[in-house]
Amino acid sequence: MKHLLSIQELSAEEITALLDDAARLKAERGGHEQPLAGQTWAMIFTKSSTRTRVSFEVGIRELGGFPMFLSKNDIQLGRGEPIKDTARVLGRMVHGCIIRTFAQQDVVDFADFSGIPTINALTDDEHPCQILADLLTVKESLGGWEGKKIAFIGDGFSNMTISWMWAAKKLGFELAVASPADYQPPADFLAKLDAPQVSITTDPVLAATGAHVINTDVWLSMGQEGQQEKEAAFGPFQVNADLLSHAANGHIVLHCLPAYRGKEITEEVLEKHAAVIFQEAENRLHAQKAILVALAKS
Ligand code: CP
Ligand code: NVA
Repeated sequence: MKHLLSIQELSAEEITALLDDAARLKAERGGHEQPLAGQTWAMIFTKSSTRTRVSFEVGIRELGGFPMFLSKNDIQLGRGEPIKDTARVLGRMVHGCIIRTFAQQDVVDFADFSGIPTINALTDDEHPCQILADLLTVKESLGGWEGKKIAFIGDGFSNMTISWMWAAKKLGFELAVASPADYQPPADFLAKLDAPQVSITTDPVLAATGAHVINTDVWLSMGQEGQQEKEAAFGPFQVNADLLSHAANGHIVLHCLPAYRGKEITEEVLEKHAAVIFQEAENRLHAQKAILVALAKS
């Protein structure tokens, strides 16, 4: 594995190997190998971040490396320097790069032009690091996803849902996505996905019924602030106690965070399920360390 750009391009074997190594690194925290010793990894972020930035900075240090955070406003990228030129400069100086930005193509171009290991830390199309942390959390909480129903309630065509749909296709679990009619995955995407175990509905109760995992995310992703018309369509898609009354016994609730209480999730539900939701946040660190270790070996 040379880069980690999407769940779409990972195999089931690569996903399970990353999750196994994440569990090992979690268990051995403080005493494991340091394959990034002597290395500098750049982190180019053109969108805000708490979890991703902190977990990568800590993870790189724990693996022996030095993280270099580069906000778009601090580098010439923010003044219009093309990504392919930025890539060719950084590729000659640092050992790897983590990028959070809008267009997936920018991350692909960076990987191509830099020649160094490149990690997608969220684009408009995918959030692969988050989904790996989420899968680790499902494994730890429920023992795995075999025979489990996972529901995603919210925006049906956001980075989170797209990555979850690819994970369902690769790993073979049942995924029910409930979204307003205007915010569902388009037909051409579903044709490309070609995953009969992924169902799409406008009925949140149908998706939540019998689900072992109830997953949600913000209604307005970064870059969509102020789209009040979009937000207004999501009222019936709140994860609240009524909706959870339809879920399977022993269900867990996942939220990648940040959460907007009173919108996609209630205060009551978030606090009731906080232990698993913040375990999920912590798992960002362990999952990303597994990615860094895998790329350092490539
Ligand atoms: N879940 C997530 O990616 O959080 P941040 O935006 O804080 O990095
Ligand atoms: N879909 C959200 C995820 C935030 C971690 C966004 O892109 O803003």
